[in-house]
Amino acid sequence: MLTSLKDCTMLHNGVKMPWFGLGVYKAENGKEVVDSVKIALKNGYRSIDTATLYENEEGVGLAIKESGIAREEIFVTTKVWNTDQGYESTLAAFDLSMNKLGLDYLDLYLIHWPIKDQYIETWRACEKLYKDGRVRAIGVSNFNISHIENLMAHSEIMPMVNQVEYHPCLTQIELHEYCKNQNIQLQAWSPLMRGQLLDNGTLLQIGKKYNKSTSQVILRWDLQNEVVTIPKSTKESRIIENANIFDFKLSKEDMDQIHSLNENRRTGRNPADF
Ligand SMILES: NC(=O)c1ccc[n+]([C@@H]2O[C@H](COP(=O)([O-])OP(=O)(O)OC[C@H]3O[C@@H](n4cnc5c(N)ncnc54)[C@H](OP(=O)(O)O)[C@@H]3O)[C@@H](O)[C@H]2O)c1
Repeated sequence: MLTSLKDCTMLHNGVKMPWFGLGVYKAENGKEVVDSVKIALKNGYRSIDTATLYENEEGVGLAIKESGIAREEIFVTTKVWNTDQGYESTLAAFDLSMNKLGLDYLDLYLIHWPIKDQYIETWRACEKLYKDGRVRAIGVSNFNISHIENLMAHSEIMPMVNQVEYHPCLTQIELHEYCKNQNIQLQAWSPLMRGQLLDNGTLLQIGKKYNKSTSQVILRWDLQNEVVTIPKSTKESRIIENANIFDFKLSKEDMDQIHSLNENRRTGRNPADF
């Protein structure tokens, strides 16, 4: 049973990654993202998920510095954006991200989307960054089984993480099973379906049983499914609420009922059509 925000999964290279973290997509660079990250860290969060696309890496880095928490206690993820894919351009994009973050090493670097004819070369750059010790783990995002199979056929290092859209309306059963078998940690983006699930009747009813909110039920469901989760909020009360999920356990029946909400419904693009 997971007991705290500091609990970690062990990636296949032995690196520990917190099961729970803060997403910062659409948190504005400057005060909004700095405050969100500082509030999260003050309340025990130890993992932050940003990306070049979010244009807030500076704010994330500043908040980490100002938090006073030792660098090695915080797990920082960023991602290479689609227009930077390719070998040399990924290496250059990584340097730019690191300058913005103001960090001398990164914990996890992800390929944001599987850009056809480019992601293999992008991965080769990720492998170099990993071998050079600039990043502790490398992974992918929005990769289907076929993308991973193709990557593995042309690469040396297996991705450590696959970050995909994942919530009760999109349970990704086949992909999850595949990743488990390959020792790739699945990570949920938009775990709250960008807020669209919060008034779902089934989830509200389950929440009542445990005296928990819908978002707490969903995020607890992620953990019990062994999926790393990174809900986003810029509001202090919600940042605290979302993390308050380590004092209850959903029953098997409730877990199954949440699974039955699956409609294979996405808020984002389908990687198969990308
Ligand atoms: N790899 C990818 O392609 C990809 C794509 C999308 C997202 N991501 C990552 O995943 C993270 C999470 O996904 P997301 O930001 O799209 O969506 P999300 O975490 O599912 O939902 C965030 C939305 O829910 C609201 N919210 C959060 N907690 C709440 C609560 N307790 N009660 C009511 N509303 C609440 C937030 O509003 P407030 O901020 O106003 O509280 C925001 O509008 C992102 O921030 C990003 O780091 C990755």
